[in-house]
Amino acid sequence: MCGITARVGVGDSSESLVATLENLEYRGYDSAGIAVKNGTGLKIQKREGKVAQLRDAVSENRIEGELGIGHTRWSTHGAPSDANAHPHVDCTGRVAIVHNGIIENHDALRRDLEADGHEFRSDTDTEVVPHLVEDALDAGADPEAAFRAAIAQLEGSYALAMIHEDVDAVFATRTGSPLVLGIGADANYLASDVPAFLEYTNDVVYLEDGDVAVLTADDFRVTDLDGVDVTRGVETVDWAAEDAGKGEYDHFMLKEIHEQPKSLRQTIQGRLDDDGGVRLEEFPQGTFDAVNRVHFVACGTSYHAGLYAESLFGDWNVDAQTFLASEYATHPPAIRDGTLVVGITQSGETADTLGALEVAEDAGARTLALTNVVGSSAARLCDDALFIRAGPEIGVAATKTFSSQVAALVLLGERIARDVTGSPTPDAEARLDALMDLPEHVDTVLANSQAAEVADRYAHEDSHFFIGRGSAFAVALEAALKFKEITYEHAEGFAAGELKHGPLALVTETTPVFAVCNGNNEAKLESNVREVQTRDGPVVGICPRTSDALADTADETLTVPATHPDLVAILANVQLQLVAYHAANDLDRPIDKPRNLAKSVTVE
Ligand code: G6P
Repeated sequence: MCGITARVGVGDSSESLVATLENLEYRGYDSAGIAVKNGTGLKIQKREGKVAQLRDAVSENRIEGELGIGHTRWSTHGAPSDANAHPHVDCTGRVAIVHNGIIENHDALRRDLEADGHEFRSDTDTEVVPHLVEDALDAGADPEAAFRAAIAQLEGSYALAMIHEDVDAVFATRTGSPLVLGIGADANYLASDVPAFLEYTNDVVYLEDGDVAVLTADDFRVTDLDGVDVTRGVETVDWAAEDAGKGEYDHFMLKEIHEQPKSLRQTIQGRLDDDGGVRLEEFPQGTFDAVNRVHFVACGTSYHAGLYAESLFGDWNVDAQTFLASEYATHPPAIRDGTLVVGITQSGETADTLGALEVAEDAGARTLALTNVVGSSAARLCDDALFIRAGPEIGVAATKTFSSQVAALVLLGERIARDVTGSPTPDAEARLDALMDLPEHVDTVLANSQAAEVADRYAHEDSHFFIGRGSAFAVALEAALKFKEITYEHAEGFAAGELKHGPLALVTETTPVFAVCNGNNEAKLESNVREVQTRDGPVVGICPRTSDALADTADETLTVPATHPDLVAILANVQLQLVAYHAANDLDRPIDKPRNLAKSVTVE
């Protein structure tokens, strides 16, 4: 969490720094700030609140400079306030720093610095850095050497960018937090994530842990911590600037829900064989011959994609289990020979997931990142990577990336199952054919959905339950997560059969229950629905158009096109994304930036 940016180039940087921060706001939005350098030293503007507040402050009180740094914050140390907003400066105001991550030894460093007379102005862990730089400058180091001297004393995870009033360069480094350079025609950029500067350039340089970069208006240099040059190539990303904008939609979330036909096509494109198999360039036949079990590690929505895949892999006779990454990192299961550990992570930067993957690597497991972000930490950490190709996702609530994760896991599962069991999965041809048709089916759901009306009816109820079995259970959990994170109303997902073992006690006429049917075990789900109705709970069935059992029993239904049972729940999830979206809209919530949350959580 937290987003950092920098720009150095021709013309004023302050406007583009604010614009890049707006693009990064999904990473944190409790305060924001910029620092620019001009002939009269460093000028800083920072504000508690959203980047819009910073924009107002900058337009009321213009600051200009050809070079600058910016930050949008998600607090970890110190409450959101003007004082705790970044950039932070040293005692003299000659050095300004922005930081993403956590400096674990900040207490000890601060004690020493304060004992030496340094005056701190914030409660943040970050502020130790400019004071450490100041010490090194006072001892005679030049700004680059002082920056290196400071980072040599830090423990924890950090991406840092620094400017000094006497130097026309931005100094930056990363360890455990993402940082990418953007190489433009008349300016160079630096940011936590590529969408920040897509409107200026598509040419990027991914930095590695331990890199130190010096960015000037027309050049960049990358070295290791000891100052030895390292080569980092320029890559061109194929994301377009429009992909990172809201377009005609009121919210990124709604835009991204509607992008699902396109993103699913991108996920699948070129990965299905004419003869009914999968063609994953990265993973030719035999790649997974030595695998005998799969562990999925993930958080949030990505965890639910793992649960979805686990339910399918089991049907295909592949031993698969899904773990919350934070638990796996601290209480790992036995990791035996032949275990493939798949980290599912949209951003590729979630600290908990990276922690779990590191545990897996240490235990000698083979690791694979299933991610949306080329060049992300997960992609670079793992032995292999499979990209979901969903395009940038800005809304904090993940939507299109869930669908693409599940689609990619269906493809990966087919490859793994064929290697592990020696034969295609049962029903492979029908499933893969249905996968080809999935984007069109999502289009149909989007064009005909009654989700807005359903949301209007139930948005204000006390509690919202979501139930399902197998892949529909994974979607019940995902739908409840979506609902609670953007409406702030209570929502829980349950395995449909488990409702009667406790949660049923909570069901009343003010507890709408959304029952997700994937076309399997319909009679059992119908019984569970009747258990709810007997307690006066209203039931909304989300089911294929052909599912008479649920359509006849539920109080109302949101239907989806009939397709292969393994894929139905992806369509049901689209309906439930819309229910959550419209309920949050009715309740006037800040849909793209729910309170207390951030899209990319880079702390444990
Ligand atoms: C955060 C976000 C969730 C997301 C989770 C995992 O908690 O708010 O929406 O699902 O991180 O993110 P990842 O990038 O690893 O998929």
